[in-house]
Amino acid sequence: MILKFFLDVYRRLIHLEIMKIDDFKRRNKILQGDCIEILRAIPDQTFDMVFADPPYNLQLSGDLHRPNHTKVDGVTEEWDRFDGFQAYDTFTHSWLREVKRVLKPNGTLWVIGSYHNIFRVGAIVQDLEFWILNDVIWRKTNPMPNFNGTRFTNAHETLIWCSKSKESKPVFNYQAMKALNEGTQMRSDWVLPICGGTERIKKDGKKTHPTQKPEALLYRIILSATNPGDFILDPFFGTGTTGAVAKMLGRDWLGIEREHAYVEAANERINKIEVATTEKDVLITPTKKGAPRIAFGSLVEQGLLRAGDKLFDIRRRVTAKVNADGSIASRNIRGSIHQVGAKVQNTPACNGWTYWHYDSGGQTLPIDDLRERVRANMAESLLNSKRQSPTSH
Ligand SMILES: C[S@@+](CC[C@H](N)C(=O)[O-])C[C@H]1O[C@@H](n2cnc3c(N)ncnc32)[C@H](O)[C@@H]1O
Repeated sequence: MILKFFLDVYRRLIHLEIMKIDDFKRRNKILQGDCIEILRAIPDQTFDMVFADPPYNLQLSGDLHRPNHTKVDGVTEEWDRFDGFQAYDTFTHSWLREVKRVLKPNGTLWVIGSYHNIFRVGAIVQDLEFWILNDVIWRKTNPMPNFNGTRFTNAHETLIWCSKSKESKPVFNYQAMKALNEGTQMRSDWVLPICGGTERIKKDGKKTHPTQKPEALLYRIILSATNPGDFILDPFFGTGTTGAVAKMLGRDWLGIEREHAYVEAANERINKIEVATTEKDVLITPTKKGAPRIAFGSLVEQGLLRAGDKLFDIRRRVTAKVNADGSIASRNIRGSIHQVGAKVQNTPACNGWTYWHYDSGGQTLPIDDLRERVRANMAESLLNSKRQSPTSH
């Protein structure tokens, strides 16, 4: 027993010695080995984001067959076997603790799982004092049916998105997500197909990996929570979906994977990807922070709203009247859209642009849409004036 312990320690030291500390500083590569051992050798605060798709601990026993007697490709691999819940929890606690250490203070973690493991993972995430920002449901458009007809079709997986701590200031590219969702705020239920077609990596007609994730899923995750040049870790790299999408989107990545066959498949996949662009204005969605300031009064001046028009909250329970001077009034309270919004809700602050709405032919729309229209007009007239006098500044 003692001899085995010392042999194990010796083997780890040799392993990490061979890998050399510098390997961890180099980006865009796969390190083959056990993620807990490798993570232990990575310096604190290295990564901007971690995406983890850990073993599910499916506890499958026996083969599953379709009604036509063909065998279903389940996850029966050795890497998904644990000696019960306690062993799985110990494993989960160890890798999550290391992940927390190697995240930068404002870094975030995404972890995906199914009902088999996500509740255990979620509890440990909270025990380690990560701060949960959202749970996202990935609803599969084409899930595998429940062949025996004994339960509901299991048609979703859950993602937990959390920051390193409650005090973190995580990246969230709100405008990029809104644009991706055709101008409407992105919700926490994502409807995407499972990985298939030419995207699915196969060798001699057989799937290389049983749980390869779709690139569309990683696309949304990486675009929402990182910026170009950020460094992303995936400690359960599999076929390298995270690395493939990170490369396409101009982010750096590091993958850890135990199985040699998956490392080979992932390297081959990522090497084949040709980066289409590194242009920042293609990869980054402009935010409102850099946009010109517009006063609510200019909407009235420009005739988008008129004195006497009614504004209301999204549920049309609270109303206010627009005044000629660009202030508004509700229940004898007069002031800016923000001041009146805060007072009627009895809150210390309010973003009047998103709180107040107007009627557009029976549709309830936020007045922020009108501000966007003013901004777009301004940008267009600026462009026109530049075209007309190319030498003027
Ligand atoms: C659910 S799969 C990830 C699939 C991956 N997201 C993809 O799109 O291909 C989990 C992966 O973690 C690997 N793995 C399991 N335990 C590991 C460990 N302790 N260290 C490193 N890799 C491990 C498995 O070999 C498997 O490829």
